[in-house]
Amino acid sequence: MRRIRISELNSGMIVARTITDSEGRILLRSGVQLNEHYIDKLSALGLQSIYIRDAFDGVEVRDVISEETRQETIKVVKDNFRRLENQHKLNIRLVQTMVDQIIDELLSDLNVLVNLIDIRTFDDYTFAHSANVAVLSIMTGITLGYNDLQLKELGVGAILHDIGKTRIDKNILHKPNDLTKEEFNEVKRHTNYGFEILRQYPDVSLLSAHIAFQHHERWDGNGYPRGLAHHDIIPYARIVAVCDVYDALLADRPYRIAYTVNQALMILKRMGGIYLDSQCVDALISNIAVYPIGAVVQLNTGEIGIVVDVNKEAPTRPIIKLICDCYGGKLQRTGEVDLSKYTTITIAKSLSEEATQRLEQQFN
Ligand SMILES: [Fe+2]
Repeated sequence: MRRIRISELNSGMIVARTITDSEGRILLRSGVQLNEHYIDKLSALGLQSIYIRDAFDGVEVRDVISEETRQETIKVVKDNFRRLENQHKLNIRLVQTMVDQIIDELLSDLNVLVNLIDIRTFDDYTFAHSANVAVLSIMTGITLGYNDLQLKELGVGAILHDIGKTRIDKNILHKPNDLTKEEFNEVKRHTNYGFEILRQYPDVSLLSAHIAFQHHERWDGNGYPRGLAHHDIIPYARIVAVCDVYDALLADRPYRIAYTVNQALMILKRMGGIYLDSQCVDALISNIAVYPIGAVVQLNTGEIGIVVDVNKEAPTRPIIKLICDCYGGKLQRTGEVDLSKYTTITIAKSLSEEATQRLEQQFN
């Protein structure tokens, strides 16, 4: 299975992962064969890419949390945003339950790396983004050795880090083109609003509320709202800042298609020590599969293969199922190579979508 741009879809391709909206409603089920009508619908929904099956399938892709938990978390975020907009109180208990579940799932298998990038529609962006930031932040907290109470505080603040956006004019929030200075100043206030909202709830720790307040502060002091720097920013907010930036880079936006995982990791590394706390950057990166399951890669031996599993201890050395030689021809040896055991073999490059498609045609 692999992720492919909507513009590159063709009739006959098979959907590999069910596509849902933020209510958990199924838009297109896994296994459905695409036709022109479906492809038009997908682009009308504002989607830019989906997962399709390919000739190299048969690879099971595990992710750090279950699809059900991901969907449920998105729904909890959306419900809470709606509740606030309708002048109801937040349902903090529900948020805490969700955070507990995410922590349990992450701790149940510490060997899994982040493999999948979720597909979201634009109107779901804030909700899916909040859910992702929570999962990534808790994961980073685990890597940094946080205890259960700390993970809970971090998780609640991460899920609700953008809750202050409920007080920002929707016309400004969803404006597709550049914001004026005044409009941008208004958007920036979602940090203050978020803090004001969360501190009203005795069940929310003041540290969680400070995540909403400080997640746009930057390591070098060039953030907002207060221009705090270095260790004046609380550690939770430094973690959420890193995960917030990383997830935003991986999302398709109305004005650009998502960066690849490799590109996003590179950008993140460059930001470490300048905009972001490099210790938090390193902790997050240690949880990301640089070559995710399903990626087609070329080895320094010339052979081409597909990533079938990852090694958490050695993220750049996954397990590869060999497919063919560099010309698409038959191989002398077949089977799987665990790169963590063969240190002289390395990944030379990830193959582009075009190259993968050409290869696939040879195999069909
Ligand atoms: Fe924000």
